[in-house]
Amino acid sequence: MSMQDIAVAEKTLNKKGFLDLEVDPTLDLEKEIQKLKKEKNAIILAHYYQESEIQDIADYIGDSLGLSQKAASTDADIIVFAGVHFMAETAKMLSPQKKVLLPDLKAGCSLADSCPPPLFRKFKEKYPDHVVVSYINCTAELKTLTDICCTSTNAVHIIESIPKDKGIIFAPDRNLGKYLIKKTGRDLVLWDGACMVHEIFSHEKITKLMVRHPNAKFIAHPECEDHILEKADFIGSTTGLLNFTKDDDATEFIVATESGIIHQMEKASPHKTFIPAPPENTCACNECPHMRLNTMEKLYLCMKHELPEIILPQRIIDEGVPSIDRMLEISAKAGL
Ligand code: 13P
Ligand code: SF4
Repeated sequence: MSMQDIAVAEKTLNKKGFLDLEVDPTLDLEKEIQKLKKEKNAIILAHYYQESEIQDIADYIGDSLGLSQKAASTDADIIVFAGVHFMAETAKMLSPQKKVLLPDLKAGCSLADSCPPPLFRKFKEKYPDHVVVSYINCTAELKTLTDICCTSTNAVHIIESIPKDKGIIFAPDRNLGKYLIKKTGRDLVLWDGACMVHEIFSHEKITKLMVRHPNAKFIAHPECEDHILEKADFIGSTTGLLNFTKDDDATEFIVATESGIIHQMEKASPHKTFIPAPPENTCACNECPHMRLNTMEKLYLCMKHELPEIILPQRIIDEGVPSIDRMLEISAKAGL
């Protein structure tokens, strides 16, 4: 690969979102990535929704809470984030002195996009006395307008940590928000956002599957709509769902979340059967199109050339970090 090729690829990076360079198809990418990890003292953090090959090469695989805890505590020089943009931003905010790389900058999130900060600022003005709790699936800018972040693992604890006489705005996920209202009995003011993947599940097809598999447990992520959650035997974050499948006696599970998690479920319990909950259409809509933008080739290129890198203005870091720190403190106290 010539220096000129690299210079051209770097120039188009912002438009494309990734380094568009040819990768020798005979390369053993796994071996090369392992080599780069050692040479550069890099750590690969991967979310459960990444493709299986990426999960298998990661140093740490986890849910949004685990990934942010790991990003805050690692002593690696480079964090390579195999996940989406808001996750890499969170890692940068927690470890601003480290280089944070994301294989494809266009790996966004429909939920984060459903809450544009300028509109949220106006919304928030209507409730000046309310505490703002934001799901971590939001932009770094939104975190600057937030008092406490939460993830699906700690959301109930975060809401319950707020005095009962305090009003709460919850953003951006209306489905997780409705679930929290039911779970905590608090009256949350909800922002009307949602995740495109978790809103695609078909009630009718799930019902049919449950009839065909009467012994299967139906498990769902709280980003799903309430008519889906009402059917669930267990509701939890990706880590919560994974642990449930390990601990529960059932040997069949219908899983309503992004299908990438099934890779870890099958690895942990090879004798059990996992059926991805079907979407409305015949598409693969239970795969997150943003998460799946990352590939082994892009991961290799980004580690080799240390691009694309997440860069954040100091103001965003200064004003956004307290909301994440509060979340981590409350989680630690709760033993999460
Ligand atoms: P958790 O990682 O908290 O389970 O959330 C899932 C998700 O949608 C991440 O984008
Ligand atoms: Fe965002 Fe949904 Fe994809 Fe998670 S699964 S990254 S919430 S679009």
